[in-house]
Amino acid sequence: MRDDAFFELHRDMPRQGPGDAEDVLWALSVLGQPARVIDAACGPGADTEVLAEALPLARIEGVDLTGHFIAEARDRLACFGPRVTLREGDMRDLAGPADLIWCAGALYFLGVETALDLWRPVLAPGGAVVFSEPVFTSDPPSPEAAAFWADYPGVGTAADLAARVQAAGYRTRATRLIIGRAWMNYYLPLMARAARLRIGAGPDLAAVLDEAEAEFARWRAAPDHVAYLLCVVAPA
Ligand SMILES: C[S@@+](CC[C@H](N)C(=O)[O-])C[C@H]1O[C@@H](n2cnc3c(N)ncnc32)[C@H](O)[C@@H]1O
Repeated sequence: MRDDAFFELHRDMPRQGPGDAEDVLWALSVLGQPARVIDAACGPGADTEVLAEALPLARIEGVDLTGHFIAEARDRLACFGPRVTLREGDMRDLAGPADLIWCAGALYFLGVETALDLWRPVLAPGGAVVFSEPVFTSDPPSPEAAAFWADYPGVGTAADLAARVQAAGYRTRATRLIIGRAWMNYYLPLMARAARLRIGAGPDLAAVLDEAEAEFARWRAAPDHVAYLLCVVAPA
């Protein structure tokens, strides 16, 4: 089965999308010390772990639709005790109040406007959402960036994204490009696993490996052009 092959490649990875501890620390330098935090679509909990370390007094809940990732996150975060909890569930259905909703590399599953709208009542007064979303770093985009995001409709510039945030009734407090090292953090362990799995791979796994390696090749062609924008936003 294709799902099994996908998890054969993706299980036990440090993270499931581009990002870096420095991104989390940067966002906290903007926000201060939120006390109630939700990591929406936390995957295996890479950012949840950084949040837990950086916010020793916070209560943090990681939520993800994928049970495999929640199980990995539980193992990883058990050392923080009961103040960090993990739940298999849908980020459409978050339980507040939260001072911070963190969402790395996953808002596109809902769409910026839909997610921000859904999460407004989940936020405590003064609360904020931090999310990362694909952006083009030039207008028009370089051919390499356009090729990388070809299957992802609606990618625009940082200004386009700010307009979407504003249309959702939020204001952008700060932004930071996620580029370069953060992408290596995701791709390098994944490609090392792919190389090991290639030997003896059946057809389903081979197809998953082909797709992952093709995506990596498109990124390698444009590491200075492929970016997410990390956005700190709050209800206007
Ligand atoms: C690209 S991964 C990013 C994971 C994690 N934030 C990270 O950076 O490692 C996207 C994640 O979104 C999760 N996901 C997709 N739709 C979801 C939903 N509606 N509710 C919760 N999680 C969802 C997937 O299971 C997956 O773990």
